[in-house]
Amino acid sequence: GTISLKEVYKDYFLIGAAVEVEDLEDGLHRQLLLKHFNSLTAENAMKFERIHPKEDEFNFKDADKIVEFAMENNLKVRGHTFVWHNQTPEWVFKDKTGNEVSKELLLERLKFHINTVCNHYKNKIYAWDVVNEAIEDKEDYVLRKSPWYRIIGKEYVELAFKFVREADPEVELYYNDYNNEKPYKLYKTYDFLKSLLDKGIPIDGIGIQGHWDIYDEGLFDNLKRAIELYASLGLKIQITELDISMFEFENKTREVLIPTAEMLELQALTYKKLFEIFRSYKGIITSVTFWGISDKHTWKDNFPVKGRKDWPLLFDEKQNPKKAFFEIVDF
Ligand code: XIL
Repeated sequence: GTISLKEVYKDYFLIGAAVEVEDLEDGLHRQLLLKHFNSLTAENAMKFERIHPKEDEFNFKDADKIVEFAMENNLKVRGHTFVWHNQTPEWVFKDKTGNEVSKELLLERLKFHINTVCNHYKNKIYAWDVVNEAIEDKEDYVLRKSPWYRIIGKEYVELAFKFVREADPEVELYYNDYNNEKPYKLYKTYDFLKSLLDKGIPIDGIGIQGHWDIYDEGLFDNLKRAIELYASLGLKIQITELDISMFEFENKTREVLIPTAEMLELQALTYKKLFEIFRSYKGIITSVTFWGISDKHTWKDNFPVKGRKDWPLLFDEKQNPKKAFFEIVDF
């Protein structure tokens, strides 16, 4: 058999995967999880719309299955996520008459949601992505104009962190985002988090999602700069959603491809260089989570182009290790 990823990295950081319940029921995915990974994230099962679909109804079924699998097999769990502009049900932002909810009621709902979910997983989940993708990606203003922002105002971010800390004094609290290693987003994220930390808001770490591609030239320098800057704030750093697409983000082609040897080679090299960087920040980077297990199931098949096959992970569609796998275990 092949060498175990989590064994190879045991002195560096946790190795995680995002999973759906279906992955636990897929024999080969289950085997790969047990052999190579020591951390799990629910790909969707803990999102607001899934875990709290109606005001008076929580649905812990799928998330519980994932957490139980993790507990039985000694994997850690990252919670994902409490406050996000996506996958949040409509009812959250509406009052009984169908009008927009008041600030007071929305905060009450957020607090109740956080308390309920946090308590349900106390001592089982070690870290939460408290707020996800709150920083605007495209425009130069800082916070995305989501319903959370519009209705509560900019303090919704710090209040969310406070609510989680109140609900669970032990759990690690993360701010999670994408493109937050790129200079246009790095500096505004740094300034924003610094202002919260200066006020004493409890933030333990930053999640760098890591949805990258094989053509991203500036990636390595950007990443090093970002890790150093965030670490200078005393934050832990986790790579929370790693995958390396075969498509440049701007490439929206629907042409059917198969990955060529060159593409697989370039992907392997990208993973190799990334893991060299991750290893060089031993003690600062505490976890690296892949957004999936094998190319058999990846969200990139539907993002940013729906129905376009992609191959961004370490294991191929037949769940065999790719060149990228061998590059990161051999150092
Ligand atoms: C994605 C899931 O992988 C998909 O299955 C779902 O349809 C949409 O969300 N950033 C995040 C993740 O923080 O929650 C997203 O997950 C991917 C982008």
